[in-house]
Amino acid sequence: MDIKTYLKEKRELIDSYLKSYFGTLFPPASLYEAMKYSIFAGGKRIRPILALTSYGVCGGNPEDIIPQAAAIELIHTYSLIHDDLPAMDDDELRRGNPTNHKVFGEAIAILAGDALVTEAFYMIAECGMRNAELKKPETRITNSEIRIPHSAILRVICEVAMASGAYGMVGGQAQDILSENSEADKDVLNFIHLHKTAALITASVRMGPILADSDEDTLEALTIYGKNIGLAFQIIDDVLDVEGNTEELGKTAGSDKKRKKMTYPLLYGVEVSRQKAQKLVSEALYALRKFSSKANPLVGIADYLIERRA
Ligand code: IPE
Ligand code: IPE
Ligand code: MG
Ligand code: MG
Ligand code: MG
Repeated sequence: MDIKTYLKEKRELIDSYLKSYFGTLFPPASLYEAMKYSIFAGGKRIRPILALTSYGVCGGNPEDIIPQAAAIELIHTYSLIHDDLPAMDDDELRRGNPTNHKVFGEAIAILAGDALVTEAFYMIAECGMRNAELKKPETRITNSEIRIPHSAILRVICEVAMASGAYGMVGGQAQDILSENSEADKDVLNFIHLHKTAALITASVRMGPILADSDEDTLEALTIYGKNIGLAFQIIDDVLDVEGNTEELGKTAGSDKKRKKMTYPLLYGVEVSRQKAQKLVSEALYALRKFSSKANPLVGIADYLIERRA
């Protein structure tokens, strides 16, 4: 299987849903434009793709959970907008474009982030309500409301909330900021990376078995996969900040060094960091051994995460 083609196909599913979801302008227009600006700036959509894929591995039809999967991209995008703010990483380039606050100003960028994270939980929970209210049948995704039990939706809301907030991504981001200028420490570094990045990636992978009502063994195996590729993902992000170039990355290379961030290359150097990421991916793949060839895309995604240049 060609993983690039697979990723492109799944990315298009997510993008066309998001396009129809954000198809109707609402006031104030600048808030709406700011939300759309970052959502459609061209991210890889890795987190929603992981959710769709793991749901497929668990026997579901990925197209049935597009709203829930796409919601994770809203949370991820909000985290990027806030991550780039002057009070945080103070970056000027994201997804190949000026950062949100550079275009819309800090206040609207903060509010666009706030709005995206809130909208995400609405998107997971709505089951078609919003579109009925807006009387826009063409934007209606009907499958999710029919096939997914509400108890599973509730569980996903809890999971995504835990992974995104103080116990997950926000907690990791706080520790990341608090650790600027500090001497690198293995435990603090792993806390940062497991929380700021691996938590939401793990939740994305777990969304599949939860919505498919899979057994505990399946959930456990996919959790191990998610946590390992999640940590590897941030290690490679750190490595690319050192080795990559701004044009390919779509964000300014060397930003971590400038901000004196605690990173894997700082503690271990680039080469050992890559080895550690590779070892984590091997562990992730080992967790998939009980699955059939249906899990091949998860294997392909794990390998791609190591080899990626952006
Ligand atoms: C960047 O995430 C931020 C991290 C958590 C490392 P991605 O590399 O997934 O960024 P996009 O969504 O493709 O822009
Ligand atoms: C950010 O980590 C992780 C988030 C939760 C947004 P980074 O600060 O390293 O992400 P980039 O490199 O700016 O994308
Ligand atoms: Mg950051
Ligand atoms: Mg950053
Ligand atoms: Mg980074």
